[in-house]
Amino acid sequence: MSDQLKRAAAERAAALVSDGMRLGIGTGSTAAHFVAALGARVRGGLTVVGVPTSEATRVLATAEGIALTTLDETPELDLTIDGADEIDDSLRLIKGGGAAHLREKIVAAASARMIVIADGSKHVATLGRFPLPIEVVPFGLKATEIAIAKLLKSQGLPDDLRLRKIPNGAALVTDGGHFILDAHLGRIDRPEALADALNRIPGVVEHGLFLGLCTGAILATAEGLVEIGQ
Ligand code: 5RP
Repeated sequence: MSDQLKRAAAERAAALVSDGMRLGIGTGSTAAHFVAALGARVRGGLTVVGVPTSEATRVLATAEGIALTTLDETPELDLTIDGADEIDDSLRLIKGGGAAHLREKIVAAASARMIVIADGSKHVATLGRFPLPIEVVPFGLKATEIAIAKLLKSQGLPDDLRLRKIPNGAALVTDGGHFILDAHLGRIDRPEALADALNRIPGVVEHGLFLGLCTGAILATAEGLVEIGQ
């Protein structure tokens, strides 16, 4: 059911793409549906160019015949379509469940608009039930972890940080060569304050709070599509 909803949101987003657009292309299972729907439109004659937000998306988009570029060649984009792990009423997001939030945030920030596609279960009253991904440099991991834990405590948040691992037990390494600490916070009442403080910790590369970047959302529920913003 959830997969059908993801596909419905993705197909609606693909219909919003117009000829000549420079696109940011997100990462994850919902974004993969978007890549498939966009590929169908490209094969039907639509001309776009896309910047993928991960190596996984690059592979998918290439297989669909979507023309790709880099942010260096095309530093300003018209629209990014991406999934999210959580989205609130103010279009604030948690992203990074797929470990791609560093590139996703750079691409979203380079886009005039960012539309999130998701099944309705991602829509929350308060961010934070989904663990917040914090991408960190491997050098000095322990020191960075202690600094983050102190910050979380100072903001009245649990300091429950877990290094993300792959099934064989090794640390997951992102496309950028970094590690991810997932912060199990329960709820984030002051996302802006948390984001600002995390940004000041040396060793933190990027966190999964996307604030002021998302301009619209397409949420698929059993009752139909809900569109917010644009
Ligand atoms: C990847 C992301 C994804 O967009 C997010 O995890 C949602 O994934 P899915 O569409 O598979 O539920 O942020 O870093």
